[in-house]
Amino acid sequence: RRVLVLNGPNLGRLGSREPDVYGSTSYAGLVERCTELGRELGLEVEVRETNDEGEMIRWLHEAADACLPVVLNPAAFTHYSYGMRDAAAQRTAPLIEVHISNPHAREEFRHTSVVAAVASGTIAGFGIGSYELALRALAGDRPQG
Ligand code: DQA
Repeated sequence: RRVLVLNGPNLGRLGSREPDVYGSTSYAGLVERCTELGRELGLEVEVRETNDEGEMIRWLHEAADACLPVVLNPAAFTHYSYGMRDAAAQRTAPLIEVHISNPHAREEFRHTSVVAAVASGTIAGFGIGSYELALRALAGDRPQG
């Protein structure tokens, strides 16, 4: 089963970007961990990143049309992109919102997620492990709205 792992702005800079907040794993390392775990779980994982809101929206349309499950780290789009939220709302397969950090333990503007209400669920605060937990949830047989 194919799964898209979609990453929003600045996540391509993982490893060098505020490592005290986001850890020392590089973006390439994240891609490797997700694809390897996918293989173990029997999922064909494709990891993408973009700084462009329009591109993210088009990827969500693609996922809706192809009925593909999504692990989505919307990064800063989380907090303000209604366009991305409306694209995510068209999903026909599970969509799990993930965050490396715990946005609720950080600045006030990070406490709001405009996508949370249209996601199947959210996993935040476990570092890169948040993606692993999301992939395991998609591979498992737990209920997924
Ligand atoms: C993030 C949290 C967001 O608030 C932030 O804008 C990011 C990364 C996370 O994974 O912890 O870019 O989504």
